Amino acid sequence: MNYRHAFHAGNFADVVKHIAMALCFDRLNSKEAPYRYIDTHAGIGLYDFASDESGRSPEWKNGIGRIWEAEPGAPENVRAALAPWMSVIRRLNADSLQHYPGSPVLAAEMMRKGDALRLCELHPPSAELLRQAMGRDKRVKIEERDGFDALPAYLPPPERRGLVLIDPPFEVGTSERKKDFDWMLTAAAKAVKRWPLGVYVFWRPIKDPDAVVAFDSELASMLIEQGGIPAEKLLVADLWVRAIGPGSLAGAGVVIVNPPFGVAENLRTALPWLCDLMKQGDGAGWRVETAAEA
Ligand SMILES: C[S@@+](CC[C@H](N)C(=O)[O-])C[C@H]1O[C@@H](n2cnc3c(N)ncnc32)[C@H](O)[C@@H]1O
Repeated sequence: MNYRHAFHAGNFADVVKHIAMALCFDRLNSKEAPYRYIDTHAGIGLYDFASDESGRSPEWKNGIGRIWEAEPGAPENVRAALAPWMSVIRRLNADSLQHYPGSPVLAAEMMRKGDALRLCELHPPSAELLRQAMGRDKRVKIEERDGFDALPAYLPPPERRGLVLIDPPFEVGTSERKKDFDWMLTAAAKAVKRWPLGVYVFWRPIKDPDAVVAFDSELASMLIEQGGIPAEKLLVADLWVRAIGPGSLAGAGVVIVNPPFGVAENLRTALPWLCDLMKQGDGAGWRVETAAEA
């Protein structure tokens, strides 16, 4: 386990994931009934751009850094689509940008008093930082264990509403990357069988486009044919900041199972603007489509 998310927090790939999640939380909040958030790979919760890791790898400057500057001047419909996420970012930062909410803090900031959070983080020092970031929040339980192993026992959640984030590290240069795709498929099969109505967000890097196409189509056929999930309830949102190729990560995105109403439309509004803003070279692009449209 060499992966440390602090080197990547707030980069283009992180912000697309978190914007999509914030849109889901916003819709879940539109009903009064409580819900649960389950994060299989939680990270440390809150990132500080003054830290050594952020200083050594300032990927965030091309992600949240650009958005922080440009968002006040964005078109109104884009600002509205970003608002659920951006309001958390602004709340955690006064005049200048220093803190970035990872998925657990984003969730905790958006969820209500009666909601519940279950967070898994396997790396002991990261789990300790996560405990510090979450403080004494009674809604939160943190488990220092393998999130893929833990997931089936969490499902279905007692509230019967909620969101599961599956966001493994896809470590570079090892077979871990292939393993994470395989583990995500296994986790998806088990999870959806136990709880077909949950909202699931699967994050994946686009390093090898063939691997992503293979993963997406295997996930879709499994969920549609064996899980009974309608093709229009499988949404892909991807963004690439330059043509996909060797070198540092150029593209990433999420597959959302059972996206709440309006999430696809908001992502279709936000992603062209984000792509234009965060692009780092020729060949940048984005897509938002359901398995029914693919
Ligand atoms: C991509 S980061 C998570 C980022 C976080 N979800 C966010 O959006 O802010 C992946 C995290 O998973 C942890 N990890 C690696 N293998 C794990 C496993 N099998 N179970 C749980 N956590 C794991 C790593 O230590 C790392 O902190």
